[in-house]
Amino acid sequence: MATEPQKSKTKGAIVAGCLAPHPPHLVYAENPPQNEPRSECGWETLRWAYESMRNELSTIDHDVLVILSPHWRTYVGTHILATPHLKSLSVDPVFPHLFRYSYDIKVDVELAETIHAVCQEKNIPTKLMQNPDFRVDYGTIVTGHMINPLWNKPIVCLSANSVSAYYNLDRMQALMMELGAATKEAIEKSGRKAILLASHSLSHRHFTSENEIPEDMSKEHITNHSLYLWDMKMINLMKAGKSKEMVDLIPDFTEQTIAETESGGLTWMMQAMDYPTYPAKVHGYGTVIGTGNVVASWAPKSSHSAPTAHSTQSGVQSGVQLGTK
Ligand SMILES: [Fe+2]
Repeated sequence: MATEPQKSKTKGAIVAGCLAPHPPHLVYAENPPQNEPRSECGWETLRWAYESMRNELSTIDHDVLVILSPHWRTYVGTHILATPHLKSLSVDPVFPHLFRYSYDIKVDVELAETIHAVCQEKNIPTKLMQNPDFRVDYGTIVTGHMINPLWNKPIVCLSANSVSAYYNLDRMQALMMELGAATKEAIEKSGRKAILLASHSLSHRHFTSENEIPEDMSKEHITNHSLYLWDMKMINLMKAGKSKEMVDLIPDFTEQTIAETESGGLTWMMQAMDYPTYPAKVHGYGTVIGTGNVVASWAPKSSHSAPTAHSTQSGVQSGVQLGTK
């Protein structure tokens, strides 16, 4: 019979990192029981990419998912979710007809407090979010659902500081590198096996009007070719194992494509993982209302050595659903 890991005695580790974008359309198209609206189909290449990534993560033993979401915005420092249990209805402010999701989330408060403590030691401004009625942002919920629709693992959520808007992208890079190093140190101290999730798209120029049928895939494509070229540049660096070069390019990439990398998630994750030199596994690329999205994972070989019985797949109605609208 499995026993609880000795969390205070064993050195923890980051066992994988994922670029895990959060368009609410993906949850809408999956038709899970938690979401009220029903779809016919849609965005299959991205949903199948997530399916592939879930399969991979099901072979990696892990205790917790640590998410940095651009839609939990803070203006002073980084806030860290530290309320043990959060349950409510999340309604997307832009797409309320697509996303009305009942969430029920457990938080690893001990790890949240450890990240906070390490940041305080290093003079990185952080604050614990302990409001039991806190409304979890839809970026966290969509990424969390697409990675683990059963929500049977606790999460820790970090806010995105608006430093790129208040100062500039270079300052964002510097702050996220500090936060990434502190996150790594805290995970090691905690004894946890953690998967990091950078919740964002790549290029982010989107259409400004919606089709009569949101899931009409005959209308879905990148907004323009130059954004596609930029996305491919970034993905090719991921596939080549050139994560440091990719991170160095983030300020230019973000400026040219108004990418969600401005939130710092990818920089934070790559720093915490010490800039992997092995290729990312690119599970798939696709557009959502014209934005570029890649589903990709970095996992050191050693992470795959301890397969677990749990599966994140059951409970999801994946694949095309006909006649359910
Ligand atoms: Fe977003």
